[in-house]
Amino acid sequence: MTTPHIAAMPEDLAPMVLMPGDPRRATYIAEKFLTAAREISNVRNAVAYTGNYEGRQISIVPSGMGMPSAAIYITELFRFFGVETIIRIGTAGAFEPSLELGDIVLASSCITNSSMPELLLGNSDPKLAPAPDLLAAAESLAVKAAAELRVGKIFTTDIFYEPDNDLQARMLSNEVLCVEMETAALYAIAELERKKALSVVTISDHLTSGLALSSSDREKSLDKMIEFSLDLASAATE
Ligand code: HPA
Repeated sequence: MTTPHIAAMPEDLAPMVLMPGDPRRATYIAEKFLTAAREISNVRNAVAYTGNYEGRQISIVPSGMGMPSAAIYITELFRFFGVETIIRIGTAGAFEPSLELGDIVLASSCITNSSMPELLLGNSDPKLAPAPDLLAAAESLAVKAAAELRVGKIFTTDIFYEPDNDLQARMLSNEVLCVEMETAALYAIAELERKKALSVVTISDHLTSGLALSSSDREKSLDKMIEFSLDLASAATE
């Protein structure tokens, strides 16, 4: 069985998927961190892989940028490929001044300016949250690994080039840590399909200072998040 956007059979995918935004990052993760990785789909250059990490089969499937793209892959994986859990590994821009470049944030809840969750769930105030056991597993893994993680609310936007100069102040007064473009779709579809999800993001830029990770720091910081998420994926129950 293949879908319009994933040319694979259900058995090609592991029940546990890690989802970066960038297809090249999927290749990077498969080559650097997985053993026996094989490409399972490359429709529209969205290269996806399945391989092993510490004895567990894990698939890496890129989401592309933004909710409409991510929602296509997330829905097809959950609905047609037997995927049970998706862990997004992405980047985000910080609102919260105490966040530093390279910090990792676990999205314990999410708000959005998109109508997608409301339209999908038929509810004007949809619950957008990760699977509680997955979040708890991530928090205890962070304690064990002595990794400093922030846990909190994030904002999923449809607009990268934001025209509203007051957005940051509004977000800070609402205790929102950072902004990215996919998590609300992930949490809404996980709720709809009764599957599990968690969004893990690395701070790649700062919205007040304009600071951004250099390309070498970006790689180092992203490696930290990738290894943390692979450890979480290999420890988590489905
Ligand atoms: N806005 C939206 N998405 C992002 C950003 C941002 O500033 N940085 C990384 N992902």
